[in-house]
Amino acid sequence: MKTQVCIIGGGPSGLLLSQLLHLQGIETVVLERQSREYVLSRIRAGVLENGFTKLMRQAQCGERMDKEGEVHDGFFIAHEGKLDRVDLHKYSNGNSVMVYGQTELTRDLYEARDRMNGIVIHNAEDVQPHDVKGVKPYVTYRKDNAECRIDCDYVIGADGFHGVSRKSIPPDVLKEYEKVYPFGWLGVLSRTKPVSPELIYAKHDRGFALCSLRSQVLSRYYIQVPLSDSVDNWSDDEFWAELKRRLPAEVAGQLITGATIEKSIAPLRSYVAEPMRYGNLFLAGDAAHIVPPTGARGLNTAGSDIYYLYTGLVDFYKNNDASGLEQYSEKALARVWKAQRFSWWMTTMLHTFLDTPDYDQKLKEIDMSYLFSSDAALSSLAENYVGLPY
Ligand code: APR
Ligand code: PHB
Repeated sequence: MKTQVCIIGGGPSGLLLSQLLHLQGIETVVLERQSREYVLSRIRAGVLENGFTKLMRQAQCGERMDKEGEVHDGFFIAHEGKLDRVDLHKYSNGNSVMVYGQTELTRDLYEARDRMNGIVIHNAEDVQPHDVKGVKPYVTYRKDNAECRIDCDYVIGADGFHGVSRKSIPPDVLKEYEKVYPFGWLGVLSRTKPVSPELIYAKHDRGFALCSLRSQVLSRYYIQVPLSDSVDNWSDDEFWAELKRRLPAEVAGQLITGATIEKSIAPLRSYVAEPMRYGNLFLAGDAAHIVPPTGARGLNTAGSDIYYLYTGLVDFYKNNDASGLEQYSEKALARVWKAQRFSWWMTTMLHTFLDTPDYDQKLKEIDMSYLFSSDAALSSLAENYVGLPY
């Protein structure tokens, strides 16, 4: 088979790029290791910045998002037993975010690919990029025991943190930066009315907690737990009791509990791989970088990669201008590192670290009190949370 752009990974990054390029008449093939059902069973975060929602509309995938997603003009930070609101609208020149689950968004992207007869090959085994440094790269894979090959101009590695694409970059070229946090988030989904119409990020001595939502009848809650913990240690009742302990009394008193329909632990990690381009291979999204979820930057940062790649590829194919592709790694990484900084800052300020020296503890406390005493600090938070410009 032959195509112009071969995309490895059928997560949100790969599908969005495929859809955007298709609408510009550029051919793509998406190779996904898992089945569609498996991809759509993964529960991920749910806060979209405006840059991402614009891309979804541009990709003709924004209809259900605009109907069912919720526009949020602010969120709360709970600390010292009280709630302080971050007014995103006020502190980011009228901007806001959209609360819409990544699972639903991925479903919309798959449906759009179906409508346009896009080629998405599921259960592709042993996917392997070849000759990405040369002018004739190709990708091989196995499907139903047949060996297959796709010749292409460009290979896009959108295959997430555990994908194969990044491994094609030689170790003496690839520089990796990593920070592993000594805790994870235990998350549950429950068919209950959310405790608050807006998200609550809670700082507490017992550990961080987050009250989020997918809709007015579907809640998503998280608590910080040690890395050694296991979901088997947490009955529903124990989870709700611990969440309540970490919330201000007025919020805890209003929490509606119920059976959970999902429970999992995700470790917190920051990671960046540089460069994001090697010859004709371009990395995008989680394949190149991940952040702890505290600042809701993961999917949104994948979105800016896709924007830079999409515009670079369109300029190349339509205007014979390769400058966007040449600058891809540099431009994408500049924004990636700002998201890394913001996610690290939010994570550090809101989580409880064991053995924090007294001096550092004092700094964390003053960080919070400075935040709510300074319009400049709130503007900085808001500007990053709604998404820095592309
Ligand atoms: N071959 C083919 N596909 C692969 C391979 C492989 N060797 N390895 C992984 N994949 C697939 C995964 O099964 C997954 O469906 O690549 C896809 C990558 O999707 P994601 O991990 O969701 O990454 P991405 O599309 O970049 O999404 C951005 O933002 O909020 C964050 O982590 C969150 O997934 C989210 C991400
Ligand atoms: C979520 O709803 O899953 C969510 C929201 C905000 C975050 C992280 C996760 O910062």
